[in-house]
Amino acid sequence: MHPTPAHSLTLEELADWTRRVADQVQRGEHEIRADADERWHIRVHCDDMVDVWLISWTADQGTELHDHGGSAGAFTVVQGRLTETAWAGGVAPSTDRARSRRTGHLTDLVREAGETSVFGGHYVHDVRNVEDAVAVSVHAYSPPLSRMHFYDVEAGRLVRRASAWTDDPEAPAPAREAS
Ligand SMILES: [Fe+2]
Repeated sequence: MHPTPAHSLTLEELADWTRRVADQVQRGEHEIRADADERWHIRVHCDDMVDVWLISWTADQGTELHDHGGSAGAFTVVQGRLTETAWAGGVAPSTDRARSRRTGHLTDLVREAGETSVFGGHYVHDVRNVEDAVAVSVHAYSPPLSRMHFYDVEAGRLVRRASAWTDDPEAPAPAREAS
């Protein structure tokens, strides 16, 4: 068992955050932009426990397979529809000792407007807008997001290929590491 760190919110609290900010977006309390060249995102809250982001996704904008550096998270789709491809299987390696490859498979999950998803600190997924209409979502991470790892799936195994310090949630992957 991994106890919840002292500076972490529970998954329920994270979902409360994204639902609350999603309600604010629905009421028009946040300006939303969309940028087909570079996915638009803005941080709407940050403290020691949690950071909360608004993201818009134009057609075909998405991430690559990634984790959140040990942060747990939640996201609520406010508008449009997102397709989440989630790793189902062994947990992502979180330490060098545990970098051994884990078997599993990818599962596509359609996330409709109004839907909220939560995930723990070892969750690995890819999020994409495969629709023509712009999608808008609210994301929260606890502890606040600072690190992401990117993965390939090779022969049914999850293989870490890159890491990045980031304050850009659902970021595109950095250039492939040499090693
Ligand atoms: Fe993510």
